[in-house]
Amino acid sequence: MTEPLIVGAMVRTIGAYPSGWRHPGAHADPQGDAAVLRRIARLGEDAGLDYLFFGDWLATGPDLEFRDPYLLARIDPVSAVLYLAGVTERIGLIATVNSTYADPYATARATASLDVLTGGRAGVNLVTGAEPRAAANHGRDAHADNPARYDRAEEFVRALRLLWESWGEGAWIADAAAGVLIDPERLRPAGFAGEHVRVEGPLNVARPPQGHLPLVHAGTSPRSRALAATEADLALIAAPDLGSAVSARTELRGLAEASGRDPDELKVVVPVLPVVAETDAAARAIVERLLLLVPIDDGGGHAGREAFPANRSLGSFLDAVGVAPDDPARVAAVDDRVPAETARRFAEAGATTLRLVQDRTGLAAGRDLTWRHLIAAHAVPAAFVVGGPAVIADHFERWRDAGAADGFNVLSAFQPAQFEAFTALAAPELRRRGLLGRSGETLRERLSLAAPRPAHAPAAVA
Ligand SMILES: Cc1cc2nc3c(=O)[nH]c(=O)nc-3n(C[C@H](O)[C@H](O)[C@H](O)COP(=O)(O)O)c2cc1C
Repeated sequence: MTEPLIVGAMVRTIGAYPSGWRHPGAHADPQGDAAVLRRIARLGEDAGLDYLFFGDWLATGPDLEFRDPYLLARIDPVSAVLYLAGVTERIGLIATVNSTYADPYATARATASLDVLTGGRAGVNLVTGAEPRAAANHGRDAHADNPARYDRAEEFVRALRLLWESWGEGAWIADAAAGVLIDPERLRPAGFAGEHVRVEGPLNVARPPQGHLPLVHAGTSPRSRALAATEADLALIAAPDLGSAVSARTELRGLAEASGRDPDELKVVVPVLPVVAETDAAARAIVERLLLLVPIDDGGGHAGREAFPANRSLGSFLDAVGVAPDDPARVAAVDDRVPAETARRFAEAGATTLRLVQDRTGLAAGRDLTWRHLIAAHAVPAAFVVGGPAVIADHFERWRDAGAADGFNVLSAFQPAQFEAFTALAAPELRRRGLLGRSGETLRERLSLAAPRPAHAPAAVA
């Protein structure tokens, strides 16, 4: 029998879809309510998920309100997982660290501490960051370019592993009778001096139970792929559709093999945004609601705001789909039905949007689309998987069978109701089909990772 998939929860407390927080089922202010975080953690653990995953973003600004509201205000990920370590017992806890700005010694210390305190449930998602404003928040003149970020990231990973190995096996003796606490020979400095990272060590935290914490890397560029292929245990990739996920996973496995690894050592995980309800129709109704709650310029309200995105109006949508300036469609109201004859005249962008809205939401099955649906789907695209438990499980199975993914990071359009729906409805079906439910004490074991290769050269035999 094949192994269950890797399934984690990608926790965004305000919800992963930009209008999610406006849905009547959403918690009003999950960001400020630790009880919601605790609930998500316990639900994930009880449902048999492998880990809770917290991303990070090192700056904020009013422009994020409409584009990516979940980036506006985020609890520090290491603090979040440490807090949740205290209310969970088995689930893995993965925190994002931005290697462009983080200090390697402080990072090794915080993450080793997390691993010690959780008995080996910790993991690190290493990113190099895509937010230029982070630079000014960290005393830098500018966000480093892609090659410089990845040069530093490669050194950062090597330094982390050397630091995690500071305390060799058996270094802590604690022989009370003899009065010998440690074997100083087995306490090793990192002694790392790269171009971007310099750190001496040793680390003043005990050896992490997992030795090396499982390392996730999320990115999109060729340098990101190279880093994932050579160093990561899990590659978290952007996968808008099955075909691109298959080719990304194939490429990553090829690169891993070319670097001398067994390609099965690198697991490829893709984000997924299931909108789940008891029936397919109820799930479609949720998506429709979400689309209708996307703020658009409908003649009142938001349009005057400086940060309001320019592409959220009927005019800009019609421009994008090639409808002429003198076309009668220009005078439509956003809540008018889209006439079939006008839809037929859409250029590729519009035709694609129409198809996406229909395919992903099934809205056309029961009713006609309005301009508001199309504007929202065009301006705020999301790869929803919409339906009852069988539809969600079919999706997971299809992607696994096609070689698109070794696992999924599950997003929830709004919290905690959609995560509750996923764990209560979809998770049992996934378990029934053998797609969910890995075992193992530590996160490394749960992810079926091989024992870490030592970063320190073995001690010379005298
Ligand atoms: C699925 C996924 C999740 C990501 N999560 C984060 C994150 O939480 N924080 C962050 O700074 N960057 C995150 N990134 C962004 C990457 O760090 C990266 O900067 C961005 O994708 C640009 O790619 P590149 O760094 O390879 O040029 C994520 C990327 C992907 C594909």
